[in-house]
Amino acid sequence: MSWWGQPTIDDEESLRYPPAHVQSRRPSGIRLSQNKPALEVTDLKTVFDTQDGVVHAVNGVSFTLNEGEFLGVVGESGSGKSVTMMSLLKLIPMPPGRIDSGTVFFGGQDLLTLELDELRKVRGGQIGFIFQDPMTSLNPVLTVGRQITESLELHTDQTRREADAAAEDLLKLVGIPDAGQRLKSYPHELSGGMRQRVMIAIALACSPKVIIADEPTTALDVTIQAQIIEIVKELRERTGTAVIWITHDLGVVAGLADRVLVMYGGQIVEEARVRDLYARPAHPYTQGLLKSLPRLDQKGAELQSIEGQPLSLYAPPTSCSFAPRCKFAFDRCSEEAPVLEEIAPDHKVACWWNTETEEPRHAS
Ligand SMILES: Nc1ncnc2c1ncn2[C@@H]1O[C@H](COP(=O)(O)OP(=O)(O)O)[C@@H](O)[C@H]1O
Ligand code: SF4
Ligand SMILES: [Mg+2]
Repeated sequence: MSWWGQPTIDDEESLRYPPAHVQSRRPSGIRLSQNKPALEVTDLKTVFDTQDGVVHAVNGVSFTLNEGEFLGVVGESGSGKSVTMMSLLKLIPMPPGRIDSGTVFFGGQDLLTLELDELRKVRGGQIGFIFQDPMTSLNPVLTVGRQITESLELHTDQTRREADAAAEDLLKLVGIPDAGQRLKSYPHELSGGMRQRVMIAIALACSPKVIIADEPTTALDVTIQAQIIEIVKELRERTGTAVIWITHDLGVVAGLADRVLVMYGGQIVEEARVRDLYARPAHPYTQGLLKSLPRLDQKGAELQSIEGQPLSLYAPPTSCSFAPRCKFAFDRCSEEAPVLEEIAPDHKVACWWNTETEEPRHAS
């Protein structure tokens, strides 16, 4: 027990994850598969039709998530992190949203071509989503317990009784006191932090192959944040679940991620293994983000805003979106949008300027 009497995740065997019914997909101690893709996203473009015009929220995003990998996604507010990840499972409101192009390969099929009922089997079953705002995803008219058991019954072959027991275990796992009682609560009867934990329990319920967590711990206190991160870390180590973790907390990224995507203006501007990103950030935006931090390895350190106005997304990019804020900008930056290119193994950047050699990357 912790000092205030709440179970901590190391207290009881019942709080271990995955729950007993879930078979480990890989024996503990085996290295995670490095380069077998779990999810392959190519040229994703998402727009919103609004009264003021078309908002180009995601502008040609391509990335791969490998099996068992922990991928951090960082970038300031409005850079397209949430819309990108929600588009993968068609979770954006359509209309006004529209997925203009792209493929999202998962388990040999393109998720963007699936019918809604097929997609529902993937959502929550094979890909778990933890949203920023629990109220948008919890059902207000179902008890917490029923929301978890519904997911278990839909995606596993558990009986109602087994699902009830598993639901209680899951609530304990995410640190909810009086788990048995809480199963009977409705979302509005819980605090924001409790709702967040319920949502995490739902996402973990079926031991998905991929978990997408959209700033899941932002509203939680530091101790609970650490517990949630531990749970996801343990899940990943025991079952090989891959994780996409959107965050403002560079401590989380530094401590957990294998690789990081940096987003700006609905595009990936840099992609690198976490050590390389911190040691040799290549994009001026990434450099700005890291420079504004007092200590990169400090937990809880937040992305500071860097100078200049966030850009308008009312037109697709025809130049470098970061140019108005970039001290290295030169002619080419306003003439042509930079493409994401490999500059070292596993390190890609979308920038025309090489800040190390202080010259253009390519002759134009
Ligand atoms: N329903 C919507 N209608 C219009 N624009 C939207 C909608 N949802 C998101 N956007 C726009 O898409 C852009 C990317 O948003 P988002 O992915 O939520 O950013 P992030 O998660 O990086 O903070 C923003 O400019 C936002 O205003
Ligand atoms: S392409 Fe040009 S404007 Fe854009 S980040 Fe690189 S140097 Fe700056
Ligand atoms: Mg977001």
